[in-house]
Amino acid sequence: MTIKNNYNRRQFLQSSALAFAAATFPKTLLANMEMGTVKSVATPGFNPDVEIEFTAFKTAVPILNGNKTNVYKYDAKLLKGPTGTVQSLGDTYLGPRLNLLHGQKVRVFFKNELGEPNIIHWHGLHVVQKSDGHPMYAINSGQTFVYEFEMMNPAGTSFYHTHTHGMTARQVYKGMAGMITVSDANEKKLELPHGEYDLPLVIQDRTFDENNQLVYVHSMHDRMLGFLGSTILVNGQPNKEFEVKSRAYRFRALNGSNSRIYKLGWDDGTPLVAIGTDGHLLETPETKPYIMMAPGERVDLWLDFSGRAVGSKLVMYSLPYQGLMPAMGKMQQGRGRGRMGMGMMGMGMMSHGGLGQGDKFPIATFKVTAKVSDSPKLPQHLSTIKRFTDADVDNAGNPIPIGLSMGHMSPRINGRSFAMDKVDAAEKVALGSHKKIRIFHEHTEGGMGMMGGMMHMAHPIHLHGQQYQVISRKTTHVNAENYATVSEGFLDKGWKDTVLLTPGEEIEIIKPFEDYTGLFLYHCHNLEHEDLGMMRQFYVS
Ligand code: C2O
Ligand code: CU
Ligand code: CU
Repeated sequence: MTIKNNYNRRQFLQSSALAFAAATFPKTLLANMEMGTVKSVATPGFNPDVEIEFTAFKTAVPILNGNKTNVYKYDAKLLKGPTGTVQSLGDTYLGPRLNLLHGQKVRVFFKNELGEPNIIHWHGLHVVQKSDGHPMYAINSGQTFVYEFEMMNPAGTSFYHTHTHGMTARQVYKGMAGMITVSDANEKKLELPHGEYDLPLVIQDRTFDENNQLVYVHSMHDRMLGFLGSTILVNGQPNKEFEVKSRAYRFRALNGSNSRIYKLGWDDGTPLVAIGTDGHLLETPETKPYIMMAPGERVDLWLDFSGRAVGSKLVMYSLPYQGLMPAMGKMQQGRGRGRMGMGMMGMGMMSHGGLGQGDKFPIATFKVTAKVSDSPKLPQHLSTIKRFTDADVDNAGNPIPIGLSMGHMSPRINGRSFAMDKVDAAEKVALGSHKKIRIFHEHTEGGMGMMGGMMHMAHPIHLHGQQYQVISRKTTHVNAENYATVSEGFLDKGWKDTVLLTPGEEIEIIKPFEDYTGLFLYHCHNLEHEDLGMMRQFYVS
């Protein structure tokens, strides 16, 4: 196998937590793979509109009162391009917000000064394989990686985060993520709230020790269920309070948590209005009693405080829901004493500090501090979405399976774990094709034990590359009572790159595989699951 780049073969092998045998890579695939053409230097012919220098490093930031918290952080410096392209979120572990425009050519020099391997993935952006942050490109500390891509995405919200295989969950937990916004001509015409009225709402959960240091999961059991923190942070801060004027805002909600699923809703029952989902504006605004947000998902919210009195406060909650963790029934033991005794609690529903998956808790407070007479109107038409049907795919009767299982302490896809050098026959996709893909729970043998049926839990399934459309959500095996607590919260009408599959559901999507050849990952965005191997890749050729 020839790897011509200067992250030579040895480092390539080393830099990944799993040492894979390069020789096992199918020959045909190897021959086509672009691994040998990774750029460590800028391409002379590529004239970027935007040039950014990213750095990964360790630092300490104030989060709680008292000691600073040791974190990992991305920071960025704009070398070339419009002012405002790189927007700091202040003294937080979150990286700066990148504000990009459709059509821009972007070059990023990424310098790893972290002391461990790292690579950045642009979650939601449709870019060439070698700029997608595939873990095979992880660089060691001291090295630089050059990304070059054209912004093909329309207006929407995406994000960047580390994608170092086997380390993603821990590195994201330590801080390595940030928001990306894309704007385009269509969006400009809509005159949506912008500037100080267009704000990030990055929701994450963390657990701190008595010295304000981050505590992460240790046991295999915790990793199988996913990390749940006991403190909710918004934009890197606890007890977040936004001071708002009595007018409409655009809040770009992003679930940047490792595995916590939020059910966003107002304390007073006011419905929520969404104008965008994962990386795209919706066709028309959607009004929902609450919105489910799994790790990796984004929702652009239209929050209108018009007519609210100065001094009034609204609290956004994660409202209670049930059934997204394994029902544990007979297997109750060990963990989560106390509240676990209450009957239907699932195992691992408790985080260390007692904030379970599905518990009710406040996320952020919005305090109206000024009255203004003017507010933008909610546009009734936001973008045009051509809905895919079976007529658009070449495999309507034979969807590509994404079968999820949790057996043998190993969360898998179609019975397999991720391997850098493996692609299945079903994962080879022709460039330019549109595929129907079926996402479902694979019923592993093992009955009701830990290894089998009882381990059914929700999985947010993310596919790299172009966004897809949800075609159907079948609910033949759901527990109706549990399901009723989440079922009105899905935003399935827009473009998605991450979709939450709850227990008993089956989802069909249609995804285009256009423009770029190469290896594109798909995985569970429960980051503990991802690192445990619940990830595979498509090979587009
Ligand atoms: Cu946000 Cu492959 O991940
Ligand atoms: Cu992604
Ligand atoms: Cu999962």
